[in-house]
Amino acid sequence: MHSHQHNPLTFPKNFLWGAATSAHQVEGYNTNNDWSLVADSGLSDAGKAGDHYHLFEKDFDAAHELNHNAHRFSVEWSRIEPEENTWDEKELEHYCSVIRALLNRGLEPFVTLHHFTLPLWLYHKGGWANKKAPEYFNRYVSYLMKHLPHEVRFWITINEPLVYISQGYIRKKWPPFKKNDIVHALLVFSHMESAHKRAYHTIHAMRSNAHVGIAHSASSFHAYRKHKLGDQLFEMMLDFLVNHSFFRFSKKFHDFLGINYYIHYRIYEVHPHLIKNPLQFQDIAKQYREVSDVGWEVYPQGIFNILVDFKDMGLPIYITENGIATKNDHKRTRFIISHLKEIYHAIHAGVDIRGYFHWSLLDNYEWDKGFAPRFGLLGVNYETLERTVQDSARVYARICKENAISHDLLHYLGHET
Ligand code: FCB
Repeated sequence: MHSHQHNPLTFPKNFLWGAATSAHQVEGYNTNNDWSLVADSGLSDAGKAGDHYHLFEKDFDAAHELNHNAHRFSVEWSRIEPEENTWDEKELEHYCSVIRALLNRGLEPFVTLHHFTLPLWLYHKGGWANKKAPEYFNRYVSYLMKHLPHEVRFWITINEPLVYISQGYIRKKWPPFKKNDIVHALLVFSHMESAHKRAYHTIHAMRSNAHVGIAHSASSFHAYRKHKLGDQLFEMMLDFLVNHSFFRFSKKFHDFLGINYYIHYRIYEVHPHLIKNPLQFQDIAKQYREVSDVGWEVYPQGIFNILVDFKDMGLPIYITENGIATKNDHKRTRFIISHLKEIYHAIHAGVDIRGYFHWSLLDNYEWDKGFAPRFGLLGVNYETLERTVQDSARVYARICKENAISHDLLHYLGHET
């Protein structure tokens, strides 16, 4: 057809395009954090993962060749502070090299300071439930601010506090494997809030060029029965808890909103038993929807809904994670285009969105789900550690380069797998 006559969907000037990873999921050889113990609880551990610890330069070469101009990664606390108040300069130097490698390739670093893992010494002291946890975190953050390269402008203190709390203290999926432990869940929530606030101040006191935020997992909700007050209240409650509670208590302590988007919840019918098991409701009728290899529905409009909802916080937004676990790379291509199209529409609805980080740069260790889910723009052969640039990565590379979704790419959306 006459696609050349259509204008591309162009993104704002200076938009950041990149991908995200986290230390424990890609580095390999992390033996001094709480996730190194998960084999005792029947999960597989991360082992050498994709050995990004040694191969980061090659991986960043690939990101650069794929036209990324930004990259999000995390510093592994247990490497920097292997024993309480003992600092490992060699590991510090490693992360300085990581940052320099990014800067040399023209990739803007987004540095996450805590992405789910805890040093063993802190884990044995009760982790985030310990009332001194914010102080410990602040000491670690100060150390990094003193020593990491001053070119870094973007800092993410904590990744997905609510997911961490829900998986570790309510659902018994991740360390410390607690079930419905509301008391500790609330304690951890309040300690993470104050840790973020303290870190926010510390980073600003030590760095004049800093932008500080968190990476927040936001979900989209849809309760169908508009005439049922119970369903509507349930949706409002979940929306508040999942999307707004953390920001509500730390409003003034964010220079930007980091948004991770993966999940759309369909609320069909709210029954009293859902109060006991609130996460069961979304499973109904899944078989009629396109889902990822880990069962999450592909619902691009969800990211639009969330972005428009967050507009009135009046802060710049970066999509700090968004991606799909799939062995069908064509599906990933469509996922990327369809989600970016929704982000484009949100920008046109007046939302100040300044960057997008695809999850993930390379295949990695997906926590309790092990290595089966494939999220990477670069596929990883875990035996040879070889990387394969996926076709989806090349499509994304074109978008990054053109700072636009050219009209012919929209044709991908018409095709089924
Ligand atoms: C997010 C996590 C990230 C990754 C993706 C799939 O919740 O932040 O580490 O596991 O999900």
